[in-house]
Amino acid sequence: MEVKLAKSAGFCFGVKRAVETVYEQIEEQKAADKKLPIYTYGPIIHNEQVVKDLEDKGVRVLESREDLEAVREGIVVIRSHGIGKEICELIGKKGLICVDATCPFVKRIHNIVEKESVRGRQIVIIGNPGHPEVEGIKGWCSSPAVVVESEKDAENLVPEKDREICVVSQTTFNYNKFQDLVEILKKSGYNGSVVNTICNATEERQTEAKEIASQADVMIVIGGAHSSNTRKLYEICSRECAQTCFIQSLADLNLELSESVRLVGITAGASTPNNIIEEVQSYVRNEF
Ligand code: F3S
Repeated sequence: MEVKLAKSAGFCFGVKRAVETVYEQIEEQKAADKKLPIYTYGPIIHNEQVVKDLEDKGVRVLESREDLEAVREGIVVIRSHGIGKEICELIGKKGLICVDATCPFVKRIHNIVEKESVRGRQIVIIGNPGHPEVEGIKGWCSSPAVVVESEKDAENLVPEKDREICVVSQTTFNYNKFQDLVEILKKSGYNGSVVNTICNATEERQTEAKEIASQADVMIVIGGAHSSNTRKLYEICSRECAQTCFIQSLADLNLELSESVRLVGITAGASTPNNIIEEVQSYVRNEF
């Protein structure tokens, strides 16, 4: 039996950078004369183990704007998803130290929507309206942005007379779905620009997962239960491989492999630490 681990499984560049930033801050504070509390604005990644480890090291998670309002001093690390301009300003106004670990690819979207909305264009964000990255992007638009997630949303969008649009995407959105939605918008007669801001890391991870799943008899997708990119990977793999399982860590894995199983594929979402992937991989390699 062969085990194939996707090369693109696990932390992407932006998440790796954000997590490392928090650990660096912990080290810096250990060495500092006056120690400051460290906060992250939202969990740094969708991974309970990592968040727990950081908590054990004294890092606290600010769950909301109200939590932030209550902080008197300290360091606030911004996660890779980014935040809106208003929250950024609030951190500054409160005299807190802001350590911005927004992924540069997300920052690029902030810059685009800020510039284009100031020019008067209607910003259309293709993505999940409840996702913090989308919330953050909305927060850089000088006029309200529209979020389009489904074909129905795209069809229901009524062009404003003489107003051009600027379409961007949540970095983790499915590429094919993005193209379909853009097509619908084009058919409705919109003018303006479309910037594909889907991150390559996601595209690569999805393409590789699909390829491995199409050959595999059993496919294992590892990631946090609340991670939308992991859920998307699971969706893609399930279409290719009937026996696809979604686990958070080795503890969830309940594998029964029949003799006929030739290939087990493994992939993992963007917030899955390497040690968890390794654990699953070596278990499958050694136990079967
Ligand atoms: Fe950044 Fe792409 Fe990851 S946008 S956070 S490198 S998925």
